[in-house]
Amino acid sequence: MKLTTEQMEKVENLLSQMTLDEKIGQTNLESPSIVGGFDVSFEELIEMVNDGRVSQDEFKKIMSTASRDYHEDDIRAGLVGGMMGDDPVKANELQKIAVEESRLGIPLIMGYDVIHGLRTVYPIAIAEAGTFDPELFERTAQVAAKESRASGIEWNFAPMIDVARDARWGRVSEGPGEDPYLASCFAKAKIRGLQNDQSSTENYVAACLKHYVAYGACESGRDYNTTSMSVSQLHNVYLPPFKAAVEEGAASAMASFNDLNGVPCTLNPYTLRDTLKERYKMNGFVVSDANGIVECVTHGIAEDAKDAGIQSMNAGLDMDMGTHIYKEYLKEAIETGKVSMEVLDDAVRRILMVKMWLGLFENPYVSEKNIEKYKTLPEEHVAVSLEAAKKSIVLLKNEGQVLPLNRKQKISLVGTLAANRDEVCGAWAMGWKSEDCVSIWEGLKNSGADVAYYLCGGPEDEINEDEIVKACIEGDVVVAVIGELVNMTGEASSKANIEMPGKQRQMMESLLEKTKAAGKSLVTVLMNGRPLGLGWEDAHLPVIVEAWHLGVQMGNAVAAVLFGDENPSAKLASSFPSMNGQCPIYYNHPSTGRPGSKSKFTSRYLDAPFEALYPFGYGLSYTTFIYGEMQVEETADTYDIRVGLKNDGERDGTEIVQLYMQDVTASLVRPVKELKGFVRVDLKAGEEKKVTISLAKADMGFYDNQGTYVLEDGLFRLYIGGNSRDCQCREVRASFK
Ligand code: GLC
Repeated sequence: MKLTTEQMEKVENLLSQMTLDEKIGQTNLESPSIVGGFDVSFEELIEMVNDGRVSQDEFKKIMSTASRDYHEDDIRAGLVGGMMGDDPVKANELQKIAVEESRLGIPLIMGYDVIHGLRTVYPIAIAEAGTFDPELFERTAQVAAKESRASGIEWNFAPMIDVARDARWGRVSEGPGEDPYLASCFAKAKIRGLQNDQSSTENYVAACLKHYVAYGACESGRDYNTTSMSVSQLHNVYLPPFKAAVEEGAASAMASFNDLNGVPCTLNPYTLRDTLKERYKMNGFVVSDANGIVECVTHGIAEDAKDAGIQSMNAGLDMDMGTHIYKEYLKEAIETGKVSMEVLDDAVRRILMVKMWLGLFENPYVSEKNIEKYKTLPEEHVAVSLEAAKKSIVLLKNEGQVLPLNRKQKISLVGTLAANRDEVCGAWAMGWKSEDCVSIWEGLKNSGADVAYYLCGGPEDEINEDEIVKACIEGDVVVAVIGELVNMTGEASSKANIEMPGKQRQMMESLLEKTKAAGKSLVTVLMNGRPLGLGWEDAHLPVIVEAWHLGVQMGNAVAAVLFGDENPSAKLASSFPSMNGQCPIYYNHPSTGRPGSKSKFTSRYLDAPFEALYPFGYGLSYTTFIYGEMQVEETADTYDIRVGLKNDGERDGTEIVQLYMQDVTASLVRPVKELKGFVRVDLKAGEEKKVTISLAKADMGFYDNQGTYVLEDGLFRLYIGGNSRDCQCREVRASFK
């Protein structure tokens, strides 16, 4: 985030005029409190719903009757730095109080969760990351930024860039998968898309990197659980996306709930001040996650709320989301010297810098024109969402080349997920309207399919055998849509069983038997937010398409792929296990002294495969790609890996060529493979191209347990291929002197 000298002078001048109360006010992030029955913050009420203290029905009743307290008096007194919400009219009202009625007229910053689109929702991150398309990552983020600003949101609590390797964790759906390099490319592109079009204050927002840091490493995939790792693991796996995003100019970050090696990230000096602010030089601010500060008491590292607040501010946490601890205790902490004015000034300066950089002092309001602009989704936004959706679909299996279908075939569509447009947007999509969403059933009809829907079962439904029989008799091909409801992934959605939910597997067993008996084809489309344990499905189902939760255009995208208008090109950004017990499972693992194999005394299971069912980077196409002989050329600063690639089929297609590396012998054991590059290659039927991926020698190192980046001479293996398992390999002996 770059400010001009003039902007910095304005920030310092403002800071010098501020009273202690006004400084503390900037560190206070409010959300509308629900009043009447539950006088708690909206965030806390959500927590109460999530943990069952408040039932869904009670919540609906409260929301229908409760009014909201927007803390207008505190805003007027300069005691509020930011507000959460997505209503532009309300945002303008509150902003007017802050700008015109508070003593110094410092504007609020309005924040909201816009993780994969606001009104025009696009694929969940784990799906979009599978496109391996940074240019697309950037364009979808630009759509989100524009729609956010028009909704009075200048600050997106995004991108979520937590590397995650355990699919039991519900939030694996929100992030870019298991690989630090892909996650770093994703993070950088999202920052560019959210922040870089500063041609108008209507086009950019402040990003908020989350959840800082290692939240995805929560033990046993249980949300909010403890994380424990070496310094080298932290720097090699979980920090890279944040480092990359800060280098791209990220304006803010959000501290994560988890404790890291015994110190909660909300008040962790090593991660916040030492690493993010001093080492990476992030000049924006850090906000806590919801209630994060007070939870440090529950963690057992703070005596009480006041102690938690003091430790948090001193560690480098600049803004308090939802607990009012800074508002209540910082003044005394400053007056008693527990927190220095210098520390508080640093926090306030960072917050003022972001507001200045956002242009809020000059343009604090959303124009009427802009408010109206996205009442209906703009065509160009919908087009980007549809493109992203199509490109995010992964073809996992296509026995007998059943796909693509042709429109002469009568389709029997089954699975309740197929007919429910309110399930297409996935977790953490908050601003969409049902009428803007396209179910798979609607998408098939839109594409001219001869399709009939049969109510046979779904994630939480009983199976209807009569309807199954009808579907298998009346259609030429059965398309079964199975997977997860939106509420089965996202926050507070950890699962011990990540195999197919409910009775969907039984439904598929019945469909398999009856389609075989009727001589019909069976196509399975997955709608899910996390990698599922698909051992049974892979062993029995002939055709499997991974369609994730793709956003408002899901139905049209799935139809395009099923009919071959779009040749599927995506790969998996996360490994899929055969069964639960394999979690966590990921490709970039160390060798161990006894790599898993058939022989007994190795790192293998007695009752499960050693390898992932579908590995990172895996995905098929309707055409076939033939790789030529891999060549490696060394230059002064790089290894250039070249390979011929031929589209050997009758369809145009896109292959994502991946480059991996192994540091065979090092001062710390290194992963058997690490992604170091990739490129999307479009090839017409029969076309052949030379593909080159360069690996900079400077990128062949790793972080040691002092957090120092080291490059060590020695033997390296370079791999190139269409996924992390099936690759060609060449060895090089590298010297970095
Ligand atoms: C939630 C989430 C975080 C979100 C915040 C505000 O608890 O952990 O991702 O941005 O609260 O809604």
